[in-house]
Amino acid sequence: MPIAGIYGPDDFANRPQGQHQGQATASPRAAPARTGPTLPTPSLAWTPEVARATAPLYERVKHVIPPIEWPLMAPTILAINELKRARGAVILAHNYQAPEIFHCVADIGGDSLQLAVEATKVKAGIIVQCGVHFMAETSKLLNPDKTVLIPDSRAGCSLAASITGADVRLLREKFPGVPVVAYVNTSAEVKAEVDICCTSSNAVQVVESLGTRSVIFLPDRYLATYVASKTDVKIIAWKGACEVHERFKGEELRAFREADPSVQIIAHPECPPDVLAEADFTGSTAHMINWVRERRPRRLVMITECSMADNVRAELPDVEMLRPCNLCPHMKRITLANILESLLTLREEVTIDPTLADRARRSVERMINLKN
Ligand code: 13P
Ligand code: SF4
Repeated sequence: MPIAGIYGPDDFANRPQGQHQGQATASPRAAPARTGPTLPTPSLAWTPEVARATAPLYERVKHVIPPIEWPLMAPTILAINELKRARGAVILAHNYQAPEIFHCVADIGGDSLQLAVEATKVKAGIIVQCGVHFMAETSKLLNPDKTVLIPDSRAGCSLAASITGADVRLLREKFPGVPVVAYVNTSAEVKAEVDICCTSSNAVQVVESLGTRSVIFLPDRYLATYVASKTDVKIIAWKGACEVHERFKGEELRAFREADPSVQIIAHPECPPDVLAEADFTGSTAHMINWVRERRPRRLVMITECSMADNVRAELPDVEMLRPCNLCPHMKRITLANILESLLTLREEVTIDPTLADRARRSVERMINLKN
């Protein structure tokens, strides 16, 4: 059914000025630095030993990283992998991380839901989150006693920056009794104010699990529109958007199809409706990857962040990628160099006020505990 209404900051005359914790900008403030033992920087020289030790890793990425670039990356990759073992750390990486991170240093890769679920199973004492700040916060919520590091805490998200906890309270005042679902792309402060979280993998299931006629769904207006098209529950949305996916246009997809009618097009549900109308399949990043693994299309247009196409191509080189992709500037703040730095210095540590964290954790755990 069509969306029941879309609200934003301008719709509330009594909205408090100023924002919380820097989340109103796309890049959150740096977390307090951890004071801990800093290890000396290892040698980052390209030697025959480094070439030998990293050769199996190069096999994984040889279709997407030219041989001339490998000597520039391999010494840092080797140093990260050695340091990770020495520190007893685990690296979680989102599907949008660059191939040298995703395929060469990450222990666990996946979409937001997979990373949240995997975070609950981590045994290591240190988690290095290669993704954006809300993902690191989610890992911290689920591992309050562990050290969660993000290599650059300025890695924000335009969706997380679009809404505050005070906004959620104003929505609740306007729609008393209507439950609130928050996309995980929100700050811990927002998660603390809502009933349950969702990701793009389970958004429809989460909305329907509440058993109500109406639901407030925030902050992504396009994901909300997509969910509304799949359910009879009335969806009240917030005006946020992903700055990466909102830039795609239906007409560019039509141009690809006209050039090659056999091309397959798959898109993330953060895209506007005219884009999704052109897609053969819509799903979360993990669902898109599974779709490609199963279908093995000859030519594919992946309407999402650029690095994901590289990561899929590294695994499935026979799939030809046509790429009108957009880069997420926040995801790209994470680099091999700052992952190494993070492991050497144990910075930047993610911290969340414990009382707020208890409330935010409930919303994430309620999602994780939903039966499939
Ligand atoms: P996924 O949950 O599909 O991985 O999406 C996260 C995200 O930030 C997409 O822009
Ligand atoms: Fe946020 Fe969009 Fe970047 Fe995903 S791609 S982290 S939704 S800005």
